[in-house]
Order: sequence, then structure tokens, then C-alpha cells
Amino acid sequence: MNADVFTLFPEWFEWFRAQRHVENALALGHSLDAIDFRGSTPLKWGQVDDTPFGGGAGMVLRVDVMEAALRARYGEDPVSVRSRRRVVALTPGGRTLDDALAGELAGEPSLTLLCGRYEGFDQRIVDHFCTDEISIGRYVLAGGELAAMVVLDTVLRKLPGALGHADSAVEESFSEALDGAPEYPHYTRPASWRGWEVPDVLLSGHHERIRQWRHEQSRRRASS
Ligand code: 6GU
Repeated sequence: MNADVFTLFPEWFEWFRAQRHVENALALGHSLDAIDFRGSTPLKWGQVDDTPFGGGAGMVLRVDVMEAALRARYGEDPVSVRSRRRVVALTPGGRTLDDALAGELAGEPSLTLLCGRYEGFDQRIVDHFCTDEISIGRYVLAGGELAAMVVLDTVLRKLPGALGHADSAVEESFSEALDGAPEYPHYTRPASWRGWEVPDVLLSGHHERIRQWRHEQSRRRASS
């Protein structure tokens, strides 16, 4: 996967890139680049946004600015870029991110994430340059950067080899392996602590009974 994030705060992603699972993914040949779209603005003084037509509070990211940034990066009209790669606008009103969408994105060879600030994007950016609009939940963040990191976190950890253990991402919360249910509870040593005991079945060594118990717990969590 090669992922490009268009942002006014590329330095935020330096911290993200240094996280273990992200480093692992990058070491496997995946890439993550943060592109400062102020750097390619055709406007004076680094301007990227403007006041909304029709009036109202806040500022709106300009379509000409986003077009210049995408053209500078991909060397072609952004209208055709979106026919070759997934281009996602991060917006509070987009499709809510879930495990299935993360899995879908993890199957893409390339991914472009656009981070808005202020009141958001000129709608023509979304309509003509993007394939998707994604939200990470029904609340409003000051900008798309943290949402982009959430999307990338969940996508990158699904790439083969990004986690320490090959099975770690298969049977986890909300996965198909658990029929979309939350994960079963985990326990480790000590087996007894202050009278709080680990369920006997987990110490029994009966792999089939353990498997059944875990799936039962997972189903129970799904319905509560
Ligand atoms: Cl993707 N962006 C912003 N600004 N706020 C959000 C969001 C995205 N998802 C939830 N809230």
C-alpha cells in the first residue's frame, strides 16, 4: 500500500510514522507520505481557504488549492487520479469507519487521504476529486488529521506482517471470524489475584472447549 496524506500539518505524521506497527508496515515496503498542500498553493501568502459563499462562520478549503496539490503530486488532472486510486475526503458527515471498511481499504494498492480544517472542503473537491468520504464517528474534530491517523492505524495493522503475530488481526473485535462481534475476554498470569480467578476452562488445555467458550463470550458481548 502506498498512502498519501494531504494536510496542513505534515509534522503531526512524523510521530505516527514512528509507531511500531506503522514502522513495521513501512519496513515491509509500504509507504506513508504526508504532503503539505500549502506548499503548492497557487495563491499568495500561502493562502488555502476562503470565506463561504452565502455567508456564515468559518473558512472553506479552496478547490483550486486542492487541485494544484493533487496535480503537483500525481502529475495529472485529479479528476483522472480518482479513477486509478482511492481518494478519501475526511469529513464528519462521511461514511462511518468500521472494521469492514478498514478491510476494504487495506486491499487497495494506493490510498490518498485529504485532511480538511476549518469548516471543511469546498464541495467540488469531494464531488470531483474524491471516491469516498469517511468519518470516524458522529462528533466534530478540529481537522481531519486525527481521523486520517485512525483510518491509517486500522488499515495498516491489517496488512500482512504489520503485526507481530500473523493471526492477531484475524480473530479480533468486529472481525468476520467473530461474526462482527466484539472480542472475547483475555486473561494472563497470575491465574489468581486478590481472589479474582481466571475462568477454569482457559486453564484446562481443552482447545475445542476453549474455542467454544470464547465464541460464546463474544456472542454474549455482542448482545449486551
Ligand atoms: Cl473525518 N473530520 C472531522 N473534522 N471531524 C470528524 C471526522 C472527520 N470524523 C469524525 N469527526
